[in-house]
Amino acid sequence: MAGETFPSSTRPDSAALVPRIARTLRHESLGERLVAIVGLAAFVAGTLPRLAPYDRYLTLSCLAVAAVFAIRFALRLYRAPPGPERILNIGTFIDFLAAAPVPLALLLGAPPDAARLLGVFWSLKLIHFNPALGLLARVLSNERQPLVSVAMAFTVVLLFAATAAFLAERAAQPESFGSIPAALWWTVTTITTTGYGDKVPVSFAGRLLAGAVMVSGIGLFALWAGILASGFAQELRRKDFLQSWELVVQLPLFRGLGAPALSEVTRLLKAQRFPAGAMIVKRGQPGDSMYFIAEGEAEVHTQAARIRLAAGQFFGEMALVSGEPRNASVVAATPVRLLRLDVVDFLGLAANQPELLNIIQAESERRGLAKPG
Ligand code: CMP
Repeated sequence: MAGETFPSSTRPDSAALVPRIARTLRHESLGERLVAIVGLAAFVAGTLPRLAPYDRYLTLSCLAVAAVFAIRFALRLYRAPPGPERILNIGTFIDFLAAAPVPLALLLGAPPDAARLLGVFWSLKLIHFNPALGLLARVLSNERQPLVSVAMAFTVVLLFAATAAFLAERAAQPESFGSIPAALWWTVTTITTTGYGDKVPVSFAGRLLAGAVMVSGIGLFALWAGILASGFAQELRRKDFLQSWELVVQLPLFRGLGAPALSEVTRLLKAQRFPAGAMIVKRGQPGDSMYFIAEGEAEVHTQAARIRLAAGQFFGEMALVSGEPRNASVVAATPVRLLRLDVVDFLGLAANQPELLNIIQAESERRGLAKPG
């Protein structure tokens, strides 16, 4: 929290520190990315022959970039908690690769244009801290078995196709298809539908084979893309589920539910955020969902009064229970985090968890919005 002070004997607990560190690192990583882009531009430009007269300046720019990364590396090492993880982690390794190779190569006497090429490691700074990368790593790890199976199928198709091409074409084109390794090059460019055209089958059988290889290549790539796409979707659903679960278990309404019922509820609820002042529900409109307040406060605007609802309470249930239009507007009084339950899921939940429906109905009646009975 801004302006928060701690007595000298007390330290902020780790839960409070994590968001702070994350915020600081986000700013730092943005700066580092900008420096990396400058360095990469200097290293790429340095390979253009017409910029040879500026060789000295390009090398100086690369050294300046490496110096910035060396300072970052030292600072991060200094800040890291003691222990082997201080050095043995991927972040420190990337920091080291960004800081050391270019100056080290120059110190060891490498020509400046060759030393500058080691600036290619700065590209790693562009992906460092990227949360999407963690997601990709998890998807690859989760889906490794089907991915490896497709890779094996790919290898089998490659080998069969290269052998068939060798048999069909070796007599007519011994220089291009005279061995399996030579035929494999043609097979790889054909199966990926890259088709450089440097090797082309001329026999009828060879052309038939080329068609079959192209079609099976498309199929295998589609399979790969499908596995990755469903892996990503599954991982995102899992993330959503965990996020909702954390919020759902805090709600008093669901406290008595067992784990299976809780997980059913969690699957149905969709987490949503609204900024302060946003209209969530409008009076007179048909109701298609109800909301549980997970964080923040909402304000109900009836014709007669304004009622504050806090975290743990719900609203929007009346229209679902009675089938009538919304009888009040509900506005976010502070930034709020809500869990939305759509009408179809509300009906399903009401059928499976009648005690939840009873509580919701009782609350509606207490509010004087639903007719008893
Ligand atoms: P609904 O009619 O679907 O949409 C507006 C919501 O405001 C309503 O459901 C209730 O959830 C809520 N609401 C209306 N009047 C009150 C009240 N007196 N106290 C608390 N909540 C209310």
